[in-house]
Amino acid sequence: MSEGSYVVVGGSKGMGLGIVRRLVEAGETVVVLSRTADELVGLTGVTHVEIDLLNDDVAAESLPEKIKGLAYCPGSLNLKMFRSLKPDVFRSDFEINVVGAVKVIQAAMGGLKAAGNSSILMFSTVAVGQGMAAHASIAASKGAIEGLTRSLASELAPKVRVNCIAPALTDTPLTARFFASEEKVAAMGEKYPLKRTGTVEDLAAMAVFLLSNKTSWVTGQVIGVDGGMSAVR
Ligand SMILES: NC(=O)c1ccc[n+]([C@@H]2O[C@H](COP(=O)([O-])OP(=O)(O)OC[C@H]3O[C@@H](n4cnc5c(N)ncnc54)[C@H](OP(=O)(O)O)[C@@H]3O)[C@@H](O)[C@H]2O)c1
Repeated sequence: MSEGSYVVVGGSKGMGLGIVRRLVEAGETVVVLSRTADELVGLTGVTHVEIDLLNDDVAAESLPEKIKGLAYCPGSLNLKMFRSLKPDVFRSDFEINVVGAVKVIQAAMGGLKAAGNSSILMFSTVAVGQGMAAHASIAASKGAIEGLTRSLASELAPKVRVNCIAPALTDTPLTARFFASEEKVAAMGEKYPLKRTGTVEDLAAMAVFLLSNKTSWVTGQVIGVDGGMSAVR
C-alpha cells in the first residue's frame, strides 16, 4: 500500500461516511473533516478534525503531509420554485457547495502533490445535466462544481486527478424527508430506468473507485451514478 492518508470532508454522515467505511475496510487511514463525529466512533484508522466550513478556515497543518485522495461531500438541498428563491439562498448554497471545496482543496494542495498520483473527488447532481423544476439554486452551485472539476483537472495534471460524481436521489441524512414513507420511496423508484432510488453503497463504491489508482487514466470526468436517469429513457 502506498504512503499517505485519505481526507474525506463531510465523512461523518451520508455518502462521505460510506466512503470512510470502505477506505477503512481496505486498511487505509482517513482524516475526516466535519462538525460532528458520532458515527465515527469505533472506526479504526480515522482521525476527526472538527470544523464548520461555513465559518472556519482550513489549516493545512490539520491535514496529512501526504494525501492520496480527497473527497468533498458537504452539500445542500433547497428545493423551491425560482420565484421563491431569495438571492441569499443562492449565496449560501454556493458557500457550502463551492467555496467550502475551494478552501479545503487549497489547504490540501501541498499534501496532494507530495503524495503523487493523488486524486480529488467532488459531488454534483443529476439536476445539472437535466433541467429540473425547483432545482435552480442547487443546479447553479453544482454546475460550478462541474466547471471547477474540469478546470482543476487541467491545472493539476498530471500529478493530481480531479473527478466528480453526479448522483440522483440517494438515501442519506440530506434527503431523509423523502425517505419517510415506503410507498413514496417505491413510487419515486419507479421514475428511474433501474427502478429504485440510490443507496450510500451505490455512491461510495464509485467514489472509492475514482479516488483509487484503479482509475489512474481518468480525470476531468463527471460520472452519473443515478439509476440511469441522465442517459436512459
Ligand atoms: N443525497 C442525495 O440524494 C444527493 C443527490 C445529488 C447530489 N448529492 C450531493 O452529494 C454529496 C453528499 O450528499 P449526502 O446526501 O451524503 O449529504 P449529507 O447526508 O448532508 O452529508 C453531508 C456531510 O457534510 C458534512 N457537512 C455539512 N455541512 C458542513 C459544514 N458546514 N462544515 C463541515 N462539514 C459539513 C456533514 O457532517 P456534519 O453534519 O457532521 O458537519 C456530513 O458529513 C453532497 O454534495 C450533495 O449535494 C446528494
